[in-house]
Amino acid sequence: MRLYRRLLVFLRPHAGRFAGNIAANVVGAALDVIAFSLLIPFLNVLFHTGIGIPQDKGWVTTLLNWLLGALLDERRPMQSLEGVIVIIVGMVALKNVFLWLGGQFGASLQERITRDLRDAVFRHMQRLSLGWFSRNKTGQVMARILTDTEQAKAILAEVATKSVQNFTQVLATIVLLVGLSPRLALISLVIAPLITLTIYPILRRLRTGHRKLRNDYGEITSVLQEVISGIRLVKSFGGEPYEDQRFTSASGSYTKGMVRITRIALLAGPLTEVLGTTVAVLVLWFGAKQVFATPAQIDPGTLISFMILVMRLLPPLKQLSQAPTTAQQSLAAAERLFEVLDEPTEAQKDKGTRDIVGLSSTIAFEDVGFSYGTDAPVLTGITFSATKGDVVAIVGSSGAGKSTLVDLIPRFIEPTAGRITIDGADTRDIKLSALRAVTGIVSQDTVLFNDTVRANIAYGAAQRFSQAQVEAAARSANAHEFIAQLPQGYDTVLGERGTRLSGGQRQRIAIARALLVDPPLLILDEATSALDTENERLVQEAIERLLAGRTVFVIAHRLSTVTHASQILVLDRGRIVERGRHAELLAANGPYARLHALQNGQRP
Ligand SMILES: Nc1ncnc2c1ncn2[C@@H]1O[C@H](COP(=O)(O)OP(=O)(O)O)[C@@H](O)[C@H]1O
Ligand SMILES: [Mg+2]
Repeated sequence: MRLYRRLLVFLRPHAGRFAGNIAANVVGAALDVIAFSLLIPFLNVLFHTGIGIPQDKGWVTTLLNWLLGALLDERRPMQSLEGVIVIIVGMVALKNVFLWLGGQFGASLQERITRDLRDAVFRHMQRLSLGWFSRNKTGQVMARILTDTEQAKAILAEVATKSVQNFTQVLATIVLLVGLSPRLALISLVIAPLITLTIYPILRRLRTGHRKLRNDYGEITSVLQEVISGIRLVKSFGGEPYEDQRFTSASGSYTKGMVRITRIALLAGPLTEVLGTTVAVLVLWFGAKQVFATPAQIDPGTLISFMILVMRLLPPLKQLSQAPTTAQQSLAAAERLFEVLDEPTEAQKDKGTRDIVGLSSTIAFEDVGFSYGTDAPVLTGITFSATKGDVVAIVGSSGAGKSTLVDLIPRFIEPTAGRITIDGADTRDIKLSALRAVTGIVSQDTVLFNDTVRANIAYGAAQRFSQAQVEAAARSANAHEFIAQLPQGYDTVLGERGTRLSGGQRQRIAIARALLVDPPLLILDEATSALDTENERLVQEAIERLLAGRTVFVIAHRLSTVTHASQILVLDRGRIVERGRHAELLAANGPYARLHALQNGQRP
């Protein structure tokens, strides 16, 4: 129920279309039963009860009189009936115009709601913390945004739109049934509670089944995403059979779940049909008794129309009884969507109120500790401070916690112990947006978006920077030269489907990006660890220009940046085990000296 109410929020902006859909369907259903009631005069002719309109049928009589009174003439039955045929055809055509209109409203309603859901989930997802992204697999996240929104739409397609149509149809038919014979109508209406009672237990099992199914589908997407993005690894290690097995297993589990659910869901239709037919036959039996009674309590024409009406009630009833089945599937998907939407965004969790524009004196770590989830702490007792303009180098073996340490600065993650201050203010008291605006990051894996060179350099702020500014940044980053040689210069499209760049070129684009934004605090996380020697000189030069006038945290080993750093922190298993300047640390002949020797020894 709560889920329905939350989905209704997405319906609200489109209330007009929804109303249009209902109105068109109501008119359509009314026209449908009216067209049907026009058959009664025909039946009366067949059963030799005259062509007249039955006189004792309440509003049905009134309606028929109004529509056909002038047309029917006992003395010329065939001509009369020809007139009726024209009216019937007209009515049916009109009914279909309305049903088509209703369909139009319904279709645009569904698609717009799906779009709104998709957009809302995407917007929200982007703003969730890094922690959320490392807890959730990419494939699962993609499945939520792409397929779960499609599935959630079905609830509106089936339940809101089709059910409105079916329900009005059923309602209009019942009104006519009661008009024709209240007693028979009463008998035939026992069908409704019977159907509800049989269907209900089925529904409860479907919901859980569908939820598991959505998850299985996410697993398929996950394997797919991992294989596509890691295809080189798969190929080089001959991992194809392993991936085949992972994929078939996920795919098989999905199929199994689907078959199980379908088996349950398929019960709804036959059950309805058997129950419905039983009721129809009951009506026939009871009606026949009334026809044979003396005096006859019902005329054969009415009984036949009644029977046909009851049979016509079955398809919409069947669809109505299946609607909750479809709804379970949608609700399972909606649940997964709302799970994302319920996760508070970084901005919602942010308690910071201070604004900062840069660093004026010091940034300090005070006894900072951090652990991912419940695992052992990754960082313990980190204490150091840096003055404006300092270059702090962080070295240590892989897994020592270097990246984790720098991720704390822009609050990608927050300390679980101690605090980090910028000019004396706890970073948690600083607005997240302000904090992110003063920190720039260049890391090992440069992400290039499928866009032009210019848009990639001025990422997310193409309007804010002029071509001259972009070009100046590119020149400082030693990137202008190779960009100028690209087929369309700064308009060349990069990224997965665009021009490929070498590792060093990508790095220089990333440096240009940082130079353009000009952040007072800069983090370089192994920005140059995967370069060849030729590129290294160009990148090194670019980096030196980038460092000038900034407070920098640099994670690197082979750089002269480290050698010249104002402070080197040696990290081992989350603790600072040594600190000082390059020459001091070499002289001390401790962990830094050993790391240095190791790295120099490994150099080609
Ligand atoms: N998102 C994460 N969730 C759980 N553990 C993590 C996560 N990121 C890193 N770790 C763990 O934290 C430790 C430090 O990682 P990291 O800071 O990346 O090291 P470094 O950058 O020095 O190589 C490693 O043991 C790593 O497995
Ligand atoms: Mg790292």
